[in-house]
Amino acid sequence: MLLTALRFSHQLLKEVVTNGDHVIDATMGNGNDTLFLAELVGPTGHVSAFDIQEQAIQNTREKLADYVDRTTLYLAGHETIEEKISARQPIRAAIFNLGYLPKGDKQIITLPETTKQAMRAILKRLAVGGRMILVIYYGHIGGEVEKNEVLHFCQDLPQETYSVLNYQFINQKNNPPILLCVEKKSD
Ligand SMILES: C[S@@+](CC[C@H](N)C(=O)[O-])C[C@H]1O[C@@H](n2cnc3c(N)ncnc32)[C@H](O)[C@@H]1O
Repeated sequence: MLLTALRFSHQLLKEVVTNGDHVIDATMGNGNDTLFLAELVGPTGHVSAFDIQEQAIQNTREKLADYVDRTTLYLAGHETIEEKISARQPIRAAIFNLGYLPKGDKQIITLPETTKQAMRAILKRLAVGGRMILVIYYGHIGGEVEKNEVLHFCQDLPQETYSVLNYQFINQKNNPPILLCVEKKSD
């Protein structure tokens, strides 16, 4: 069976992330991706995870009890990556799930400007062979605008430096999520 966007995002991470890597979860939410990444990077790697909601930090902290040493949970927007993560720190992979916190406040959503700011900061730090993945949920108010801006941003990336994949079930009803994977080919 073809993988869902969510399962495929984990597959794409698994292919490039290994023991000792530094990675970013740009939208921590309930911590599912943070946990997945913490297992991939092993005891010598590190996951930096971001969210603007206290609830997200609490939910994620409960899931990560066994991985405290290899994770930093920031109660801060991903637009602060530029200041929080050293420009000399190579990032092997990063993931975004754009939209609102499942079972949370549907008014608190990711926004195009801050999402693009975070993407720029991540691409500056992305190692050659590394991947930045976005799973875009856009069925909510504001989602369509963010989806289009993120798509344009990724379409404009130079093909000499990046390969960009777009994965979506195009015959599904109700705004099926879009997965974008940006892979860095060269510096
Ligand atoms: C679709 S959810 C993420 C789901 C998460 N990956 C999981 O495993 O549960 C989107 C999350 O992005 C968060 N968010 C919104 N604006 C943000 C920002 N500027 N920086 C970081 N996170 C943000 C929301 O609070 C929400 O928790």
